[in-house]
Formats: sequence, C-alpha cells, structure tokens
Amino acid sequence: MKITVHYTINSKACDLEVDAGETLLEALRNRLKLTSVHRSCEEGECGACTVLLNGEPVNSCLMLAAAADGADILTTEGLMRGDQRHPIMDAFVDLHGMQCGFCTPGLLMTGYSLVRKANGGDLDEATIRQSIEGNLCRCTGYMNIVKAIQEAKRRKDAGDWW
Ligand code: FES
Ligand code: FES
Repeated sequence: MKITVHYTINSKACDLEVDAGETLLEALRNRLKLTSVHRSCEEGECGACTVLLNGEPVNSCLMLAAAADGADILTTEGLMRGDQRHPIMDAFVDLHGMQCGFCTPGLLMTGYSLVRKANGGDLDEATIRQSIEGNLCRCTGYMNIVKAIQEAKRRKDAGDWW
C-alpha cells in the first residue's frame, strides 16, 4: 500500500509516496538521495542514520516514513549554506573529529542539536559523551569528536552563524 506523506526537509516542502512498511531511512536515502543518512545496523544501535525530527535526534532506521508525516526533518545536507560548510563541520575538520567518516553525519546531527540547545559557557565532556552515546564510532576513540563539539559551541558563542 502506498501512502502520501508531507515533510519539510532541509527547509523545503516535500510530498512523497512511500510504502506502508518503508522506513524513514529508506525514504531519505533511496527516494530523496540524501545519502548523508547512513545505513548500518538498522537496529537502532549505531546512530549512523541519525537525523533531526522536529529538532530532536532520531534513528531514522527505526521510524516508518509514514509515521514522520508532517515532520520537519534536518539531515547533514541541510546544515550547509550553499557551498559553505556549517561551523560544526569546520570544527570537526579542524579538530580531526573523523577518520573514516562513516559515523560523522550522525555525530554532526547529534552534536548540532546539543550545541543549538546549549546555553552558558563551555560544554563539559561528560555532557557531550552522554549526548553522543547512541552514535558509535569505531575508529577515533571519541576524544577529538568531543573536542570538536566543544569547539563548535565556542564558535557559536563567538557569533558564528548557526
Ligand atoms: S542504522 Fe540506524 S541506528 Fe544503526
Ligand atoms: S570516523 Fe570512522 S566510524 Fe566514526
């Protein structure tokens, strides 16, 4: 059975026909070609498929595309401003927050959400580690990821666009 859904994806309105059993991950990757949304465990364990749904990080592999009808969805593609990388992307590059990069889009989305909501001074390491515990990275040991998210917060506080 086909269902028509309406999303706002990366600030653009979008109507889409999806199958009743299709996941949001499949709709984003296969139909909309938003390939930053990575497929890995498809069991909610790794966070590679993380997108923001109405501002909150979700595992898109665990959600039916139809259940997201009406939602505002943000993927890593939507962090870009034209050809310009978002400041959190620059922080990951500058602080070497990635190696293979497979987990990186999911970590960017979780980190972006955390920094966007954070007020006050620097983000402490424990808060960041707790926030990203659903995003597995097998190659960096997380230290530089934590530093990159801390740096992104500093850049936001210093007036970088967000
Ligand atoms: S692919 Fe969704 S959590 Fe792993
Ligand atoms: S950078 Fe390789 S899995 Fe995260």
